[in-house]
Amino acid sequence: MESQRRQSRNLSHRINAYSDKIDVNCPELVPVISYPRIIEEREYIGRLKELEIMGVSSILPAGSTKIGKFSILGKGGVGLVVKVEAKDKKTCALKIRRIDANRKSMEREVKLHKIANSVGVGPHIYANSENFILMDFIDGWNIIRWLNQQNINNDQVRKVVISTLEQCYDLDRANLDHGELSCLDHHVLVSESVLAHIIDFESSSIDRKPCNVTAAAHSLLLNGPISRRVNKNIHFAEQEKIIHLLRMYKSNQTRGNFDKLIEAFG
Ligand SMILES: Nc1ncnc2c1ncn2[C@@H]1O[C@H](COP(=O)(O)OP(=O)(O)O)[C@@H](O)[C@H]1O
Ligand SMILES: [Mg+2]
Repeated sequence: MESQRRQSRNLSHRINAYSDKIDVNCPELVPVISYPRIIEEREYIGRLKELEIMGVSSILPAGSTKIGKFSILGKGGVGLVVKVEAKDKKTCALKIRRIDANRKSMEREVKLHKIANSVGVGPHIYANSENFILMDFIDGWNIIRWLNQQNINNDQVRKVVISTLEQCYDLDRANLDHGELSCLDHHVLVSESVLAHIIDFESSSIDRKPCNVTAAAHSLLLNGPISRRVNKNIHFAEQEKIIHLLRMYKSNQTRGNFDKLIEAFG
């Protein structure tokens, strides 16, 4: 029985030898599906069942983060994110709950991420389960890596800054505070079509006053490496004026006050 299972695993692995995708049942994926330590077989089979129900058939090595020799899209405190093939051969991103995550399921994150989706923000969620979130794959770079490319121009930088702030405004309107937008480099991906995508709603809340625009604007326009880099391409009003406009927006989060901020570097 066990040798049969091993044989079929090897076979499924070989079937995929023509492309680099790996069947989710392949033992090579155990350290990814069960990170950072091996779980009991029963629990592991439960995870595979969740993937089957979601229609996730294989994982594709991609990205600059390594788990052993296997390439993944990224790793955070709650999850690993991998590129996968789902139903109808659609390429998606899959967030896998780490075994040592400080939460028992992805339920809360999914609820908050779906609020963001309802106002057009964040990778669209296709399916979710206790341990996984299946969402749009963002083919891009984190904002700091994108800004550090040689061949970007002023219009592209302006487009990325404005689209990030517009999404923050939409989150403010939805009363969802992302919670980590002062650390933008980990939470904004820029795709090839020069669109900004806000990701990772694990620290989000609907119980705090939303401060997405102010948090992101500090990082984009006032302090730290991103603002220094942005400032090479676009000139904005002096710091005092931006701080003043942000204070006005903070006390009264209207479209008018938001537009005044955008005009300060238009
Ligand atoms: N939808 C996605 N498409 C492509 N890469 C992603 C996607 N979501 C996350 N990533 C990558 O995975 C990393 C970790 O994801 P994240 O949601 O921040 O995990 P955590 O909640 O554990 O912090 C991100 O920094 C990013 O590089
Ligand atoms: Mg994170």
